[in-house]
Amino acid sequence: MNPDLLEQMGNQIGFNGLPYIVPIHPNLVHLTLGLFIAAIAFDIVGVLFPVEKAVFRYLAIPVTRSGLFDVGWYNLVAAAIITFFTVASGFYEIMLAVPVAGVRSAWGLEALETMLWHGVGGVFLLALIVLMTVWRGFQRFRWRKDMARQVQWSYLGVGLLIFLLMFLQGTLGAHLGGEFGVHVTADQLLRLGENPNQL
Ligand code: HEM
Repeated sequence: MNPDLLEQMGNQIGFNGLPYIVPIHPNLVHLTLGLFIAAIAFDIVGVLFPVEKAVFRYLAIPVTRSGLFDVGWYNLVAAAIITFFTVASGFYEIMLAVPVAGVRSAWGLEALETMLWHGVGGVFLLALIVLMTVWRGFQRFRWRKDMARQVQWSYLGVGLLIFLLMFLQGTLGAHLGGEFGVHVTADQLLRLGENPNQL
């Protein structure tokens, strides 16, 4: 954001460019990514259950197929809910971002391009996660309610494609912190000509 506008927040802003010590968004992203990945992974294990049954029995792990699908469903619902907060905190923190100028990321992008792609990508991912939850809900409670295999192969395929988008989104986000110093105290101190080791 324009430094003049940031001045309006006066001394509420710390060296990391935020009115609080630890950025919120980088903490929430791990819940979005982790819960979604776990949701799809458990559904894959549930679908392949007939093949794995002998392994679970050999390891004496008491697993039921419906239990695996329960984990897939509840993780997805949690991912959908938490991602609203992930995106909201991302918007708040991007508004207060002052990226280090004159730098290009490992993908050859400048700070503004990275911020735009990451911002748009985040909203797109939120929409996809919500749509996946609705699709999963229909499979669980309507279309496949009485079937042993609760999810369609196409659902798993789309889930795996979303993993790829998450990789792109996460890497763009990591560039914001790691290469452009967004909300990283040490980078911001260096930008101001201060020595981070002396504070
Ligand atoms: C599903 C949605 C999103 C995911 C999975 C995601 C993922 C990430 C990841 C992995 C990072 C790096 C965190 C780190 O360095 O530890 C990051 C950073 C960042 N993201 Fe996102 N992001 C999402 C949505 C958004 C949106 C919608 C915005 C803003 C419009 C945004 C703004 C930022 C900013 C400003 C950073 C720099 C670190 C900070 O916030 O302090 N993100 N994101």
